[in-house]
Amino acid sequence: MEVFITREIPSVGIDRIKGRYDIEVNQEPRNLTKQELIENVKGKDGLLCLLTDTIDEDVLEAGKDLKVVSNYAVGFDNIDVEEATKRDIAVTNTPGVLTEATAEITFTLMLAVTRNVVKGDRFVREDRFEGWDPMLLLGHELHGKTLGVVGMGNIGKKVAEISQGFDMDVIYYDQERKEDMEDKVDAKKVDIDTLMKKSDFVTLHVPLLDATEKMIGKRELELMKEDAYIVNAARGEVVDEDALVEVLEKEKIAGAGIDVYANEPHGANPDYYDLENVVLAPHLGSATHRAREGMAKMAATNLIDVLEGREPEHIVNPEVLDD
Ligand code: DGY
Repeated sequence: MEVFITREIPSVGIDRIKGRYDIEVNQEPRNLTKQELIENVKGKDGLLCLLTDTIDEDVLEAGKDLKVVSNYAVGFDNIDVEEATKRDIAVTNTPGVLTEATAEITFTLMLAVTRNVVKGDRFVREDRFEGWDPMLLLGHELHGKTLGVVGMGNIGKKVAEISQGFDMDVIYYDQERKEDMEDKVDAKKVDIDTLMKKSDFVTLHVPLLDATEKMIGKRELELMKEDAYIVNAARGEVVDEDALVEVLEKEKIAGAGIDVYANEPHGANPDYYDLENVVLAPHLGSATHRAREGMAKMAATNLIDVLEGREPEHIVNPEVLDD
């Protein structure tokens, strides 16, 4: 069997596949073009790809022999799952192993934006620090504030748990009631408008789906308190970025911590660059050694399981395994 891996990932993943199958790994430190993807999937039985690779109908058509598309990510909005399912191709992902890392980046951004960490770093490097100053770069605390979690899945739950270290009150918006979190952290389920109105920190943890695209639009953003912050470590498209830039520019909200952009994989949103009340990160949610190694192992195991006729632990379209 032949496998194509679209980018170098931690060797623990590649080593699991090596030796079992013929593998080709793109060695270039860049995303492949659509044409390159098409050329490389031809004749392959398995594809291990990144969230930056768009696996659409054309790629799946070229990969006629594919049995599995193993995504090196928990989100799978880069893959046309419906088309893959029609073609009996299993799509797998890597939930769980990046939960802690992504929850931690959420707090990293919250703390960085409220405590002026980036501005402070710049201030010191510019050699402007002349000693302790009673009024220098005063920020706000997380302590005792209300955290609004949009999407109480694995990552949302971990964020809610960590928030207890800051004595935060948790409210959440989710389609389902999460009784475990109601018991664990006394989280209260509310509708999205109430969440936007009451939260001091809104944090987004929904997957990108038709139903969640731009779910946080101008109307929702304008419900937020003037001293509230928003953090997006989910997907850029979940927020209407133009509307977010506008509320930030007009200081209708206090600030934002942003890790993801609608324009990915073609960079961030330059409209954020001049805003002083925003901290930007380059999609670092899962960027820890532990998470990325876990993702590599899981993506490899998912791929091998499908190729060897076993049900993988994490499959997005289990219906393809039915017959
Ligand atoms: C994912 O796995 O979907 C994350 O966005 C990667 O950081």
